[in-house]
Amino acid sequence: MKLLVCGGAGFIGSNFVRQRLAQHGDEVVVLDKLTYAGRRENLDGLGVELVEAGIEDAAAVRGALEGVDAVVNFAAETHVDRSIAEPDAFVQTHAVGTWVLLEAVREAGVRYVQVSTDEVYGSIEEGSFTEESPLQPSSPYSATKAGADLLVTSYFHTYGTEAVICRGSNNYGPYQYPEKLIPLMVLNALHGDHLPVYGDGLQVRNWIYVDDFAAGIGHALAHGRPGEVYNVGGPDETTNIEVVQRVIGLTGADESQIEYVTDRPGHDRRYSLGSEKVRALGWEPQVRFEEGLERTVDWYRENTAWWKPIRSGDYLEYYARHYGKTLG
Ligand code: NAD
Ligand code: TYD
Repeated sequence: MKLLVCGGAGFIGSNFVRQRLAQHGDEVVVLDKLTYAGRRENLDGLGVELVEAGIEDAAAVRGALEGVDAVVNFAAETHVDRSIAEPDAFVQTHAVGTWVLLEAVREAGVRYVQVSTDEVYGSIEEGSFTEESPLQPSSPYSATKAGADLLVTSYFHTYGTEAVICRGSNNYGPYQYPEKLIPLMVLNALHGDHLPVYGDGLQVRNWIYVDDFAAGIGHALAHGRPGEVYNVGGPDETTNIEVVQRVIGLTGADESQIEYVTDRPGHDRRYSLGSEKVRALGWEPQVRFEEGLERTVDWYRENTAWWKPIRSGDYLEYYARHYGKTLG
């Protein structure tokens, strides 16, 4: 199958591309704007064509769609803290970008998978969200992702576009930009820097190893019913402070590096996804959190050449602005 993978130079997108090449023998074209989070290096050695453009660029999207059988859209602004500080790009990419992409997909008449998030459901104290749960997003990130999902569904209902939505829980693994909890804590732990825990650290996230999410998206692509949503949640739920403790254990860092910092405004307390519907398509998560975290820490330890250029320049400015700290 020939796939157009939008946002394929980012964390989950590049892992998805790697899996498709290795396990399915697909031909892949990546279209990516290469924002701060998108990196050519993430596709090194894979031999895929990279079109450097935004999904909001109709001409580029139309060109990239030539001869393609299906589109998987990962392209997004993905960091909640950045969406609180500067929501503009989130509205632009998720609303306008998704619309432009859907128009091109409608014209080409190809199958489409929208990669979305559990955050569109908001926070849940007990139990798990199903695909029928109401959308109650709390941040500009999740609100604009929810808007994109609704637009996708409207294209199925109105134009018959063969579109499927996949909502994942919190991903972790290789190639994740170190603004997100796990890679940030791993790299700070390895450098002897502070480990900034928001609020009381008792927020809960439902962790999924990136290969498992990529496989779930593959199942929805192959077997999902058009117009349907599929939740793809990980096998384990953990408080943030427990994640940090485990990272300390795996890196040999010191407890004294933990620093409780001002909480994120509107911080969702807990995410939890029920994934029965995608399991019925034959998907099962393979990697438990303990094992996946160990693999992830090993990957960051061994791949200094990947994160060294990131942990300098713009990232340090972002870090100082956001945390009021300089890194060692
Ligand atoms: P990421 O930030 O690592 O990658 C996003 C990619 O999109 C980057 O390569 C970036 O350059 C590209 N991009 C951004 N704006 C673009 C635009 N306008 N046009 C083309 N490309 C653009 O993010 P990620 O963690 O890999 O997330 C990928 C998708 O998965 C997103 O849609 C996100 O909402 C969703 N998701 C992420 C998680 C998670 O835990 N990271 C969980 C569930 C769902
Ligand atoms: P994050 O990786 O930003 O993902 P999301 O907000 O999409 O779930 O954050 C995961 C959790 O970790 C979230 O509850 C916020 C918390 N967190 C911290 O405590 N400290 C940090 O420095 C970061 C980045 C996140």
